Amino acid sequence: MPNVCKKQREKWRHIKDLDIPQCSHGQVELLLGANVSEAVIQQEVRLFDGDTYTYTYLVGDRSTGEAALIDPVIDQVTRDLQVVSDLGLTLKYAVNTHMHADHVTGSGLLKQHVPSCRSVIAAASGARADVRLSAGDIVTVGGLQLETRATPGHTNGCVSYVLHAAGLVFTGDAVLIRGCGRTDFQEGDSGTLYDSVHREIFSLPDHFTVLPAHDYRGFTSSSVAEEKTLNPRLTLSREQFIKFMEDLKLDYPKYIDEALPANRACGLQELSSNHRALFEKLSAARA
Ligand SMILES: [Fe+2]
Repeated sequence: MPNVCKKQREKWRHIKDLDIPQCSHGQVELLLGANVSEAVIQQEVRLFDGDTYTYTYLVGDRSTGEAALIDPVIDQVTRDLQVVSDLGLTLKYAVNTHMHADHVTGSGLLKQHVPSCRSVIAAASGARADVRLSAGDIVTVGGLQLETRATPGHTNGCVSYVLHAAGLVFTGDAVLIRGCGRTDFQEGDSGTLYDSVHREIFSLPDHFTVLPAHDYRGFTSSSVAEEKTLNPRLTLSREQFIKFMEDLKLDYPKYIDEALPANRACGLQELSSNHRALFEKLSAARA
C-alpha cells in the first residue's frame, strides 16, 4: 500500500477526532444500485475507518432484511452494528476480501455480538472462518448474490466479490483507485496480481463500479473502464508493472505484527489490550 505523508495522516486524525464516522451521512454514504432488478430491493452503505483508511461496505436486501459487511474493522464494530440496526437489517455474514495486515478484522467481534452471523474468507487465505470460499462460490444475502472471484497477488488468498445485479465489484486490495495493493509481503507476487486483475476485474463490464478496501487520497469509487485506462500501475505492461512494484520500497506495515495473528484466527485471538477492552465493553453492554 502506498505510504501516507505525516501531514496527511495528521489531517485525517483531526477529522477522526471530530467523530465524523458517527455522523450518519458524513462518512456513511447510502447508495442505491441503478441497475438493480425490481425484484431485489438492495442497498449498499460505505463506511470508513480514518486510522487505516479502510472502506467497509454494508450490502443488504431490504426485502428480506439480510445483510453482509464486507471488510469490517474491529475498531468500528460499534458503528457498523448501529448502522445495521438503524436500517432494520440483520447481519448474516462478516465477509473479508483477504487476510488484512493493516487492521484486525471485525469478523470475530461481530460474531460475538450477533451469534447468527457467520465469518467468511477465502480458503486460500489460510485463515479460520465459518465459511471458507473458493473461486466461483456465491455468497447469498437475501436476494443478492455475491460472486467470488480469485484475485491473488497482493496475498495468496485475495478475492473480489461481484454483485452483478447492482454492477458493483468489491476489489479488496487487488485494485485500489488508481493504484493496487502492495506485493512485497504475505506471499505477494506482482505478476500474479497483474494477471488476476486483468483476467477477473478488467473483464467485467466497463460500467461496473470498483469499490476498493482502502483509499488514501479521498477517492470513493471508480469504474472498471476508469481503472482499465487510467490506473497508472495496472495500465503498464506486465514487465513494467513487476519492475514498478519492486522499486516501491515501502515501509514495514504499522499493524502487521498484531493484525496477522489475529486475522488468521478470525479476529478474536491474540487481541491487543485496546481491542480486548473494546470487546469487553461490548460484552458488558450485552449482559
Ligand atoms: Fe491488504
